[in-house]
Amino acid sequence: MREKRSQFGSKLGMIAAAAGSAVGLGNIWRFPSETADGGGAIFILVYIFCILLFGVPLMVAEFLLGRSSRANAAGAFHKLAAGTQWKWVGRVGVLSGFVILGFYMVVCGWTLDYFFQSITGNIVNATDFGAHFSSLLDNKIKQILLMLVFLLLTAYFIYAGVQKGIESSAKVMMPLLFLLLIVMSIRAMTLNGAGEGLAFLFKPNLAEVKSTVFIDAMGQAFFSLSLGMGCMLTYASYFNKETNLIKTSIQVSILDTIVALMAGIIIFSSAFALTNNTDTIVSELVAGGPGLLFITIPDLFNQMPGSAIWSSLFFLLLAIAALTSTISLMEVVTAYLLEEYKMTRKRALQYIVSGVFVLGVFSAISSGFFNFLDIISAKFMMPIGGLFISLFVGWYLDKKIIQVEITNDGSLRFGIGFLKAYSFILKFLAPAGILVIFLYGLLG
Ligand code: PFF
Repeated sequence: MREKRSQFGSKLGMIAAAAGSAVGLGNIWRFPSETADGGGAIFILVYIFCILLFGVPLMVAEFLLGRSSRANAAGAFHKLAAGTQWKWVGRVGVLSGFVILGFYMVVCGWTLDYFFQSITGNIVNATDFGAHFSSLLDNKIKQILLMLVFLLLTAYFIYAGVQKGIESSAKVMMPLLFLLLIVMSIRAMTLNGAGEGLAFLFKPNLAEVKSTVFIDAMGQAFFSLSLGMGCMLTYASYFNKETNLIKTSIQVSILDTIVALMAGIIIFSSAFALTNNTDTIVSELVAGGPGLLFITIPDLFNQMPGSAIWSSLFFLLLAIAALTSTISLMEVVTAYLLEEYKMTRKRALQYIVSGVFVLGVFSAISSGFFNFLDIISAKFMMPIGGLFISLFVGWYLDKKIIQVEITNDGSLRFGIGFLKAYSFILKFLAPAGILVIFLYGLLG
């Protein structure tokens, strides 16, 4: 039987869900390792530039597509541009959802492992955290099982539906995570020697600039804000008529950026403070790659009294932040199968879980495959998706729809000048910016 379309029940729930999608492993795991790789402060500056130029305007674009069509990623283009090929933008978005889940779930599995290892006290007793992480990477079966647990957990919440599953979980979990990050930032910043880590983060060093910094930062911005693949579009299809799209996109972007910066502060303060060889620290950070978080954080906790408790709490909340993101990823694919193929939630989930499991097994077995999925989604599929969404709303979509959605049919005051400026960004600035960065990244 077809489901009735749901909506988020409250304003807080809606923000928590959208922010819950944005805030995830992208902020706490991927952002620090990209920052280390991108030379610190320079990367962060370019990143913030990308959030402002592409992030906020494109989030509004996805919001207005979702709310005006009340449909899934592909269905929205079907409805708003019937009989054209624009639906492919949505279809490729759904595919990106699969691709991201295929490697993201593996990292989710790592967070579960670290959570279990923290409550049993194993992590606290370790001395070489690098070796500890490597031994997890070597244990493929364990990684696959943990990934499967996380996959089923996500599917459980999706099965429960929009209000009960997504909204109620996000409302509780997001504020808790935020609080813990504040406590940890303070602890990390007050470590002896944390200053060098903070300088790496906030004092640009032009000697460190890499030619790929633009494409890396742009990819990170899309990834972190869940943009360019119809995720925010799908969530906005559950927004109610009163939601202020501009305000919401600004709030979500600010929250997301603050969490990423806090994660950076925690990780770099600890990494610089806790190593005795500052000459090699940057190269070690870069070499730490995907393991950075899992190596520096336990080390930080080791310096704190009650380390097992802190560590358990942190990895629990990290797993939860990851869960609100995997839920949003899976909802993109679910809504698509539900509406375009008239499937039941159960049947859709059977397909999704099987498909993601296969990708996840390959990512767990091969780091090459893992990196491939990461790079093709963040650096290719999402920015290109964003480019087309921008062109669609800027050039194709009826201006009336943009105006009605942004002003909530006249009840919010956004003047004509504002709408014109917004239109200009989507028509020219954002697409040109994405294209230039993209070509520069490919040729540079
Ligand atoms: N934004 C999430 C994070 O930063 O962890 C990852 C993500 C979620 C990407 C949902 C894309 C998406 F549709």
